Order: sequence, then structure tokens, then C-alpha cells
Amino acid sequence: MSKNLTIVVTGSNRGIGQGIIQLLAKTQHTSPLTIIATSRSGSDLGVQASPPNEVRYGKLDIGDQLSIKSFFSSIKDVDVLINNAGINNNNQETPDLAEQVIDVNYRGTRDMCQALLSSSPSRNARIVNVSSTACQLNDYSAPTASKFRSVKSIQDVDSLADQYIHAVKQGADAQKDAGFGSPPKSYQVSKALINALTVVLARENSDVVVGRPPKTLEEGARIPVRLAIGELGAGGDKDIGLGTESAERISGRYFGNEGVTDRGWGRVRKW
Ligand SMILES: NC(=O)c1ccc[n+]([C@@H]2O[C@H](COP(=O)([O-])OP(=O)(O)OC[C@H]3O[C@@H](n4cnc5c(N)ncnc54)[C@H](OP(=O)(O)O)[C@@H]3O)[C@@H](O)[C@H]2O)c1
Repeated sequence: MSKNLTIVVTGSNRGIGQGIIQLLAKTQHTSPLTIIATSRSGSDLGVQASPPNEVRYGKLDIGDQLSIKSFFSSIKDVDVLINNAGINNNNQETPDLAEQVIDVNYRGTRDMCQALLSSSPSRNARIVNVSSTACQLNDYSAPTASKFRSVKSIQDVDSLADQYIHAVKQGADAQKDAGFGSPPKSYQVSKALINALTVVLARENSDVVVGRPPKTLEEGARIPVRLAIGELGAGGDKDIGLGTESAERISGRYFGNEGVTDRGWGRVRKW
């Protein structure tokens, strides 16, 4: 039997993260799956895995660099990282709450990716960054949208995050003048930053597949699970497989369905 695949999922105590754990736990893959279900509380969800799969639980706050460090020091050989954890403060957005969203959704996801990449992951490791249809850049000014689409380095993405936070702190007019549209926008900006980060990481790590993907838990979990363990092989377009021999057509791309109500396994889309 092939070696176990170790899959770490963040924010897995509820919502889509829990759906991802449940779908992985019952998926029969060519390798047994060791699923590390992490959350801030580290709670045991009692998910029953179909043998030979196994679910373990771990404590991890992606907004806390010490928590990330301690987590990666306790775990070896992560093959797949699914960055699902995220928050949305658009309903009551203030400058501080906007920054909190960027800290968790963008900076936390970035720190998790960097921690995995510096932990000598297996050659065919994968990172799945859970994005959202909110990532669309349509209502940003053309120069700002172009900055998102032309990032060359993580520093470029960090700089866009800093520009956004700086503008938010100056008020709604400054945010609009800086090309980020009107508030509340922190959730949208955080997801666009994640997409930009994904493009950079895919370019810098050609041996790692870096992809990014509401409904039932399982339907919401489909695209992340497809990107996490889908076989790179022909004929997979209609199911969990990835339908191509080449990682290049997947890595760095934004995967989604036609609309938020669609229930498919997703395809590469423009953002
Ligand atoms: N629901 C949708 O329609 C939809 C659509 C597109 C994309 N998404 C994305 O899918 C992902 C999951 O969404 P959801 O709807 O399942 O959200 P949810 O039900 O609110 O769950 C969010 C998860 O993230 C965790 N989390 C928050 N801050 C964290 C931190 N600092 N460290 C670790 N975990 C943290 C939460 O844990 P706690 O219980 O500890 O707070 C929870 O497990 C998010 O990235 C979201 O943006 C959702």
C-alpha cells in the first residue's frame, strides 16, 4: 500500500472545514489519509473515518505566529495543507476589524504556507487556499486591480495589504481613492490577497501544487478536497480527479463553480 498522505485542515471545527474533514474521512484514495483536523480549540469532533483513513485533532490559531510555529514543530511530513480558516467582519466593519480580517485571512494564510514550505514538505506537496467569489476585482480601480494581478513576490502582496490597511484607517474616501472601492471591503480584499499570494507561491514553488477553491458542508468541501487529493490524470474533470497529467494547469489558479449556488467540483476561473 502507498505511504500515508498527511493532510492538515485549518478551521475545521465547523462550517466548510468540518465538511472537508467529513468528505476526506470517507474518501477511499490510493493512499491512506491521515487527516489532521485543526482548530483554535483543538476540539475532537468524533468524525468516523473509513479505514484505513484516520482523523487526528490539533490546536492551531493561524492568527498567532507562535501557535503556527508550535504546530509545525509537533508534526512531520505534511503532504497537503488546506487553508480553510477565515473570518468575515463586513457586517460591522471598523478599521480595527478590517485589519483583523487581513491579519487572519491573508497574513495567517501566508504564514501557514511559509511554515509548510520551510518544513521540507514532500516533493509533491499541495497547498489549497480557500478563496471566495468575493475575490473578484471588478469594482476596484483599474490600476489597483492591475497591481493585484501583476504581483511578483510575497512582498508585493504584503505591500497591497499594507496599502489597504493604511487607506482604511484614513476613512471611506481614502479607501475609494486608493482604488479598493467603498467599505465594507476587508473580506473581499483578504480573498483577493489570498489569490495573489497563491499565484506567487505557485510561481516560486514549482514542485508544490498551490490551488484555491456554499451549500451543504460536503458540497462546499468538494473543490478543496478535489485540489487536495485529486489524481493528476486524464478523465478526472467530472469527478474528484484533476483531469490533467500536468500540475502546471492547476497550480496558482483560482478554482470555482459558475455561481455561489452551484454544487460542482469546480473549474479554473478568471478573477
Ligand atoms: N460559507 C460560504 O458561503 C463561503 C463561501 C466562499 C468561501 N468561504 C470560505 O470558506 C472558509 C470557511 O468558511 P465557513 O463558511 O465554513 O466559515 P465559518 O463557519 O465561520 O468557519 C470559519 C472557521 O475558521 C476558523 N477560524 C477563525 N479564525 C481562526 C484563526 N485565527 N485560527 C484558526 N481558525 C480560525 C473558525 O474557528 P472558530 O470556531 O475557533 O472561530 C471556524 O472553524 C473561509 O475561508 C471562508 O472565507 C465560505
